[in-house]
Amino acid sequence: MRLRCVHCGLELPGSLRASRCPRCRGVLDVVYEEAPGRILAPAGSRPRCAGVWRFEEALPPIPRRHRVTLCEGSTPLVRLERLGRELGVPRLYAKLEGLNPTGSFKDRGMAVGVSAARAAGASAVVVASTGNTAASASAYARRAGMTPIVVVPAGGVAAGKLAQALGYGATVVEVEGVFDDALEAVLEVVEEEASLYPLNSFNPWRLEGQKTIAYEVVEELGDAPDWVVVPVGNAGNIAAIWKGFRELLDSGEASRAPRMAGVQAEGAAPLASAWRLGLRRPLWVRRPSTLASAIRIGRPVNWLKAWRAVEESSGTFTSVPDDEIVDAMRALARLEGLLVEPASAAAVAGLRRLAEEGLVGPDDTVVVVLTGHGLKDPDAAASLGAPRLRAGGVEEAKRLLRGLARRA
Ligand code: F0G
Repeated sequence: MRLRCVHCGLELPGSLRASRCPRCRGVLDVVYEEAPGRILAPAGSRPRCAGVWRFEEALPPIPRRHRVTLCEGSTPLVRLERLGRELGVPRLYAKLEGLNPTGSFKDRGMAVGVSAARAAGASAVVVASTGNTAASASAYARRAGMTPIVVVPAGGVAAGKLAQALGYGATVVEVEGVFDDALEAVLEVVEEEASLYPLNSFNPWRLEGQKTIAYEVVEELGDAPDWVVVPVGNAGNIAAIWKGFRELLDSGEASRAPRMAGVQAEGAAPLASAWRLGLRRPLWVRRPSTLASAIRIGRPVNWLKAWRAVEESSGTFTSVPDDEIVDAMRALARLEGLLVEPASAAAVAGLRRLAEEGLVGPDDTVVVVLTGHGLKDPDAAASLGAPRLRAGGVEEAKRLLRGLARRA
């Protein structure tokens, strides 16, 4: 490789230092000695956008003409070496669900749920939501030519998520109360109003899309891991993922199933608190409270599915305080370059606890599901605290940079 100045034509050896032309300060361009023989993969072998429908054999047989996709799924599974070492779980992986089209795992479910809505002849969809479901349902409804209506707790949705719903032109109903109140309103009204198609996770079709997380994990690792750690709110996702693993066990494509760990925030832990006490049913929380607004839920509608998933898998529920959620969010960002929203970081905080308790051991392969992107909750990201310097002008900026260079 060589470099050539775009302005004066000077040619230089291809140093990886990033500089401008030493003669005229012009910008440089990279010049390859040899042109590549072929750049694009042959037409037939290129992956096409099928989204979760690439697993159509295992999904509801909705006619092709009704199927919706925004190329969701196929998210990266990345090894977390630094964080894994710190937690004493060296075989730690993260499934980056924040890289879905609207920034959360909900898109997998909406691809199937909105397709079902379209096949059912619906013209409008409705969801109660702490934000991500609202963003995802809105996007997929628009993609399918339907009208989205979202019901959210007033003041209880992170800025990025609300902006998404508004951007897609959803009608946003803000309820004084918490998510559970919003869901109660939706659950009741959809019983009477057939023209509103509900896409909350009590919709079984939607959850089918979410089980594809399990398929992709087994595709990547070659078998099921020892543990899968998932943040729990309305409790649909952990049940869906478990269903996916069980199906692979039944089909013989996995030789074992993982133990499922469901993590709740301490102020919104109806399942974890009951589990800890050895009870058989959840302890409803009337006023759930946590900075992880996505999982600020006191009466999860899917509690029984989630409970069975954890029991059948010999897994566990645990809960974590907000300060540990913030620590985990910071650790993911600074040790791994992964900015996630607080609910996702809760899973890592929960894993830290399980490792400290010795339930998860150093030989275990662990997958933590990072459910939502950090941009969803810009206030939480900004509050992690980073050095922020203000320069009045160019001269002061230079002075600051020279100071930083000496310390770099
Ligand atoms: N992580 C994120 C980022 C979420 O948005 C949610 C749920 C969960 C985890 C928990 O998943 O409800 O299946 O147990 N968000 C819902 C919403 C409630 O309205 O967006 P769950």
